[in-house]
Amino acid sequence: MKAFALAHPNIALVKYWGKRDFAYNLPGAGSLSLTLGGLSTRTCVEFDAALDADSLQLDGKAVESGGKLKRVSQFLDLVRERAGISQHARVISENDFPTGAGLASSASGFAALALAATTAAGLELSATELSILARRGSGSAARSLFGGYVEMNDGVYAIGEDGTKVATRSAEEASKAAYARQIAPAAHWDLRCVIAVTSAGEKDIGSTEGMVSTQNTSPYYEQWIASVPGDIERAAAAVAARDFAALAEVAEASCLRMHASAMGADPGIIYWNATTVALIHAVRKARAGGLPVFFTIDAGPQVKVFCPAEALDECRALLAGTQGVRQILEAHPGEGARLCGDFV
Ligand code: PMV
Repeated sequence: MKAFALAHPNIALVKYWGKRDFAYNLPGAGSLSLTLGGLSTRTCVEFDAALDADSLQLDGKAVESGGKLKRVSQFLDLVRERAGISQHARVISENDFPTGAGLASSASGFAALALAATTAAGLELSATELSILARRGSGSAARSLFGGYVEMNDGVYAIGEDGTKVATRSAEEASKAAYARQIAPAAHWDLRCVIAVTSAGEKDIGSTEGMVSTQNTSPYYEQWIASVPGDIERAAAAVAARDFAALAEVAEASCLRMHASAMGADPGIIYWNATTVALIHAVRKARAGGLPVFFTIDAGPQVKVFCPAEALDECRALLAGTQGVRQILEAHPGEGARLCGDFV
């Protein structure tokens, strides 16, 4: 009744921002990401009949109450229901990177939790089933089950046995079709991701809150969602062809359109600080000068800059030379979630 799992965060090159259904946590559109080796979450789950409630320890500190514990407990309910068990669980999770600051800790966190909890509960799920389950915890977590370059379905269509697309007719049906899959393994293209941490604190507006506000109040939300399928197609083609310039163009466009839709909310959501903006300009200027780099930004002020492996030193220097950058982290294409050894 005890298992350990490891998962990496992932960064979306074509963003997910908005939900079609809240009960099943269905995304409003698909997305495309790279799984980031070099940053890891390790999670241990142990179901124990002696416990009278679930407990959570995150980065060495007990989480006694509040949203995080509730979210983990609700996720464990899905696992318990599926496994037909009622025991509560002890969950211990450790990130080797800053938690909750827009570095996708919920992606690696729920991917590792899905694998560790189902294994501890005696379930043997396929990667697709785990991706569907992880999505219920956090939309981006569905992608961290897989390594390398990953595409997430929106669940509007299910792929039939003969490969044909069949429209799903309910949220429950769509839930079974909204999963991620690998489109190219990590070894396909050695892109590096250099992360500029521009603020150490936890973000002010969580992704769910930001999405809800955007879809309820932003006049740009529909246009944003309509732009995603074309961006996924272009990004997938750029990945297949290892076309850096094409990927740079579509990834920056997707990031800026996502943020534009959020800025259009009422009140407008601004995840950036002055250093975030300085980095956007620095990256674009360096690219115009011939350095292969592009940026992407999630629901926080950190800036993730992609470059081919050969340009890593110059890319790092560019970020280190920008005023306000507090810390630099580095990642490379990583593998999917997997069981691991004892770490506690
Ligand atoms: O899965 P969530 O709820 O953490 O949302 C992720 C949202 C973004 O990181 C901003 C975009 C993405 O696709 O990862």
